[in-house]
Amino acid sequence: MTATDSDIEKAVGVLRAGGLVALPTETVYGLGADAENPAAVARIFRVKGRPPSHPLIVHIADAAQLDDWVQEVPPAARLLAERFWPGPLTLVLRRGPRVPLEATGGLETVAVRVPDHPVALALLTAFGGGVTAPSANRFGSVSPTTADHVRTELGEGVDFVLDGGPCEVGVESTIVDTTGDVPAILRPGGVAREDLEAVWGRPFAAPGASPVRVPGQHPSHYAPRARVVLVEPDKVVQEAELARESGRRVGVFLPADCADTAVRAHAVVRVPGSMTAYARGLYGFLRELDRQGCDLIVASLPVEEGLGPAIANRLRRAAGPRP
Ligand code: TXA
Ligand code: MG
Repeated sequence: MTATDSDIEKAVGVLRAGGLVALPTETVYGLGADAENPAAVARIFRVKGRPPSHPLIVHIADAAQLDDWVQEVPPAARLLAERFWPGPLTLVLRRGPRVPLEATGGLETVAVRVPDHPVALALLTAFGGGVTAPSANRFGSVSPTTADHVRTELGEGVDFVLDGGPCEVGVESTIVDTTGDVPAILRPGGVAREDLEAVWGRPFAAPGASPVRVPGQHPSHYAPRARVVLVEPDKVVQEAELARESGRRVGVFLPADCADTAVRAHAVVRVPGSMTAYARGLYGFLRELDRQGCDLIVASLPVEEGLGPAIANRLRRAAGPRP
């Protein structure tokens, strides 16, 4: 059920009292605290089990508030904010004095975004300040795209959950560093590189070229319980059946164009051919195969267009070496 006005009022009270509110955004659900309350921000890290050196995103109600949180807004940031906010784009800028170091993991830069979700915007507008919010999952695991995912995963750790229905975009925001001469994508996400570059009018920095790193992007992230292996699209069926014969409970991400739909496996997800639909479903698919008791997921990387790179980034990390 979608949050009501009185839910928003209650959530604002929780934030003002230093509590934690889970909020829907168009990308994933966030675990929010008052950005200017260091004790509340510290609690986010405890509840998530996240190392305190991993910076958070400050969410604000509209682009006009950006200047309140940063030292300066370079022309690229201004342009991208005007064009893509509210939306799945996060801008990294120089930190203003309003942002406590607890929220940036000690960095002199800060990540800011205006989410495109009516419930998030109602909360941010009523609250008036900034809300720091990482994805509302335990550190390293699959991000939540429904209020139920949050409740199941964080339980008593969160004081209030605002339900805004399933997330439309389904993968996290694209993070763009705008502190250098040329904007650089630090994490692919809900806005495609080609759309950003079309607005900027020139190419962004090549992937990996920026000296800025995104702290907290460990090799293993977005990981379901089941192991994930990535193979070429035309090897998915064969790989899954081999693993099944050796006794694994195999879940399969069957590529959209795969003709062989009669794959013998414990559970099968037929991935959508549209990258937008695939991104929307991705975390739910991973959770569903866990729910069905799979111990191995065989998948392949999607095409590199639209939200394809964001999906590929999450799948690579889901398949990354576990601690
Ligand atoms: O879509 C999203 O971005 C979601 C929703 C809730 O807004 N939030 C999200 O937060 O994905 P989180 O904490 O799971 O990921 C934020 C990423 C982290 O990898 C962090 O390292 C990076 O943003 N980040 C935050 N501040 C940064 C900074 N100053 N410089 C570089 N990276 C930064
Ligand atoms: Mg996260």
